[in-house]
Amino acid sequence: MSHPRSAYTQGVNFYAGLDPRDLLCEYGSPLYVYNEEMLRLRCREMRGLIPLHSAKVCYSAKANANPRLLKIIRSEGLWVDAMSPGELAMHRAAGFSREEIFYVCNNVSREELALAASSSRIVSVDSLAQLEEFGLAAPGSEVMARLNPGIGVGHHQKVVTAGRETKFGIDPEDLPRVREICARHSLKLAGMNQHVGSLFMEPKAFLEAAERLLDLARGMGGLKYLDFGGGFGIPYRKYAGEARLDLVSLGRACAELLGLWAEREGFTGLFIIEPGRYVAAEAGLVLGTVMAVKNNGPARFVCTDIGFNILPRPMLYGAFHEVEIYRPDYAAGATSEDPAELPQSIVGNICESGDILHRDYLLPPIRQGDVLALLDAGAYGYAMSFPYNQRPRPAEILIHTDGSVTLIRRRESVEDLLGLLI
Ligand code: LLP
Repeated sequence: MSHPRSAYTQGVNFYAGLDPRDLLCEYGSPLYVYNEEMLRLRCREMRGLIPLHSAKVCYSAKANANPRLLKIIRSEGLWVDAMSPGELAMHRAAGFSREEIFYVCNNVSREELALAASSSRIVSVDSLAQLEEFGLAAPGSEVMARLNPGIGVGHHQKVVTAGRETKFGIDPEDLPRVREICARHSLKLAGMNQHVGSLFMEPKAFLEAAERLLDLARGMGGLKYLDFGGGFGIPYRKYAGEARLDLVSLGRACAELLGLWAEREGFTGLFIIEPGRYVAAEAGLVLGTVMAVKNNGPARFVCTDIGFNILPRPMLYGAFHEVEIYRPDYAAGATSEDPAELPQSIVGNICESGDILHRDYLLPPIRQGDVLALLDAGAYGYAMSFPYNQRPRPAEILIHTDGSVTLIRRRESVEDLLGLLI
């Protein structure tokens, strides 16, 4: 099958021999599509990252909490983190037990903390005030304190989650007060955690922050969990050949750092990482349809049904999602069919001029009726979609290794939206 631009998905056999256009005909446009093999591969890479028995991977489900995907992730031996009662419900639907769930929340009610304590292995609190609340909600429990190591990373300022300018974590200087609050409520400080931010391709900051957490944990008896958070990046620029995160050297550095520390300190607990994006992003893409192509002066606009309500990341962070173009009657190499690439802006169907997926991106000329894919949308794609302009959210399908397809979430309907009204 040949298309104007499809080399990446063909190279990884993303569609398992199916035609993305047929998928849209059957399930409607736009559509989230996931590939089971890719999801399993990324789970295995994360499980193998730190070659220590004491290392455990907790998938950060905020990236994608569809229970059908969570089930696969669980079957690969990952645990999961939760940050809301909604995520807890998804985890239960996927079969995760209480012991397999870490609750890592911020700024929640006493009732939620009580629910979290009874439904998860351990709860992480992110301020002294929340620790007090937790003490009232679940006196006598184990608890984990989220620290702010002062070192942040991320692909955008909005997702850097450590450092003085961010709302996250407890200042390490407040650790004496943490101990005092724990003592007052008979809480047992059983873990310390952090998350420096989302998407690093260079591991330096992650490792420095990990060292800092280890320094803070030194000499503290009774710790069962040291959790370094997520942030492991993926290469979004597939057609520019962007390099992958070097997992081998990162894993080696982590194993050395953590292994030596555990030996020195006599630590017998678990080292935890919480990847979200790395597990889910490349296992998913969003398909949509080109409804119109037009020029406003010299600017060429490719107008699709993938609004920023379907994939908010470009609008929110200026994030890059690679584009593929599928056309049924396309003859590869036919030069009359295949004029030179030209700058095109790909936009959605929402009533805001910021509804732009790509601005002036150099691509083969796109035509009305073409099907487009935005790649690497498996993480923070559907999970962040919303029905703005009263446009319901799309369906999600899963392609299995043998090419069979399961509808894993039906398309939201206008009736669903009306159903909330009283
Ligand atoms: N652990 C905690 C406590 C987190 O807050 C997060 C993400 C993770 C783990 C997983 O981070 P990851 O491995 O996925 O980078 N919506 C943004 C990303 C927000 C990340 C929020 N926290 C985006 O689309 O880029």
